[in-house]
Amino acid sequence: MCGIVGYMGGQDAYPILVRGLHRLEYRGYDSAGVSLINQAGNLNVYKATGKVDALEEKCREADTTGTIGIAHTRWATHGEPNTVNAHPHLSQSGNLSLVHNGIIENYKTLRAMLEGKGYSFCSDTDTEVLVQLIDYTQATSRCDLFTAVQRALKSVVGAYAIALLERSHPDRLVCARKGSPLVIGVGTDARGNKEFFLGSDATPIVEYTNQVVYLKDEEIACMDRSGQLDIVNMDDVHQTPEMITLQMSLDELEKGGYPHFMLKEIWEQPAALRTCIKGRLHPASKDVVLSGIIDHKDKFVKARRIIICACGTSWHSALIGKYFIEEAAQVPVEVEYASEFRYRNPVIYPDDVVVAVSQSGETADTLAAIQLAERKGAFLYGICNVIGSSIARATHSGTYLHVGPEIGVASTKAFTGQVITLCLLGLAIAKEKHTLSDEMFHMLVDELYQIPDKMQWTLENNKDIDKFAQMFTYCRNFIFLGRGYNYPVALEGALKLKEISYIHAEGYPAAEMKHGPIALVDEEMPVVFIAPRRGMYDKVVSNIQEIKSRKGKIISVVTEGDTTVAGMSDHTFVIPDTRDCFVPLLAAIPLQLLAYYVATAKGRNVDQPRNLAKSVTVE
Ligand code: M6R
Repeated sequence: MCGIVGYMGGQDAYPILVRGLHRLEYRGYDSAGVSLINQAGNLNVYKATGKVDALEEKCREADTTGTIGIAHTRWATHGEPNTVNAHPHLSQSGNLSLVHNGIIENYKTLRAMLEGKGYSFCSDTDTEVLVQLIDYTQATSRCDLFTAVQRALKSVVGAYAIALLERSHPDRLVCARKGSPLVIGVGTDARGNKEFFLGSDATPIVEYTNQVVYLKDEEIACMDRSGQLDIVNMDDVHQTPEMITLQMSLDELEKGGYPHFMLKEIWEQPAALRTCIKGRLHPASKDVVLSGIIDHKDKFVKARRIIICACGTSWHSALIGKYFIEEAAQVPVEVEYASEFRYRNPVIYPDDVVVAVSQSGETADTLAAIQLAERKGAFLYGICNVIGSSIARATHSGTYLHVGPEIGVASTKAFTGQVITLCLLGLAIAKEKHTLSDEMFHMLVDELYQIPDKMQWTLENNKDIDKFAQMFTYCRNFIFLGRGYNYPVALEGALKLKEISYIHAEGYPAAEMKHGPIALVDEEMPVVFIAPRRGMYDKVVSNIQEIKSRKGKIISVVTEGDTTVAGMSDHTFVIPDTRDCFVPLLAAIPLQLLAYYVATAKGRNVDQPRNLAKSVTVE
């Protein structure tokens, strides 16, 4: 989704802004723009469609001087991705320049009102309406920009993170947020003066300062060159900035020698999951300690039901979580697409626990789903990766994944991080409810603790996937099949492949094949089976037979040493043996690698696949 960068201080703004835009490329976008106020007080705006490189090319001969500026990557919602619709947008007076993330829902009404006042528009965007509205408010109320933004936003319905430059005041930067994140970085320049950075997340800021303020919903901030940072809410009440020290390191934002972030993140999984379970899973004392539930044990013990709301990959991990929590903690778990849940009138009991699973913590539908659940009285628990994200802040309690920033659009380490965190949650609830025998509980703790090592083994023993994957670049379809815990893995394998290779792929419960999809199978159809020597092994073997008799090409994920399924398959990926419930943590890895290598063999941009955004902050 869209990205915002801003800077004001003693340094040249342009290199900082462009570097910041590159850092935000992972979010997905289709045009970019920058606006700066130069020494002479001119407000310059440059925009380009396509990548940030194209913007840089355009700016090569342009005046990009100035120590204050804002920049943007746009993921088109209102109007096609062209330079007119790209941000920053200028007010009719030419005094204001604005960048915006989010969607203004009542922009048509506002636009009609402004047209009635003599304003004209050159773009199709809701954003241009916003900048004219602020301009109009400032002109009619004769107030400063800070106040005008505050007043104008009162008539705006929708979600936004905005940043503005004012040509007549090149000494201040104004920003505001509602429903879309915005981070202010506070640093010190070479002369010892305060400088301000702005980002729609912390990634453009981290290399300059680790001191940040996460703007809260309905807050408006004004930074000025004297180093002053003023924050007010919509009721004009001053807010004390809450300075936080970022835990993110620059290394985590670099590829570190890998050709793509996705491959780096796949290989990072053993280490990332070790960090995730550190201090939570204790093999020596055979214990699980999840601080997020310590103060809320009662909620979980008494929960009549757990509802998990999520989207995409997070929905798949939630489904694995459902199977595990129901089995271990004996509580019914429902998994909901957040986008459906939020528009139903779901039945929520006061003793329901609603869990949001979201890597970014910013997914608009997931956020709206838990807000609905809260209005209906549920206790909210968040499982997020991004520290301080909207969902993390909107929930009553929760657990961070701690798997490090995930930059590749296709979720990999966050998926396995979510699965292991949901397993920890299931074990923590089971411990409180005594739903598992001590023997079983201890065995599960021991086994889960070994998973990162087994992931490492899996990575090192499937190194031929790159060569093998090249055979599938011609394919137009893939089917992924699994049963039990491995059905969600099949869904995730199919999603990974389709989102980065653009090959159509479907995941099904293996037994569902007979009910329709088997009609698709012929000698051209690769069918991937997740077939570990656990769970419903014999039944999966029968399902493989059924596909084989229809000449489908069998690719299987098997347990090390398996010869039966391996003997029936055209190709196998191996994983070490583990408990049925933890197989997804291992089986996901070869499927991630398969998707990665098929996509790279097809020359796809795996880190930024077409049309996709890393955090889906609009519905
Ligand atoms: O940030 P979230 O986990 O809430 O994101 C949910 C989905 O948008 C996300 O998982 C998406 O499906 C990814 N592209 C999957 O790789």
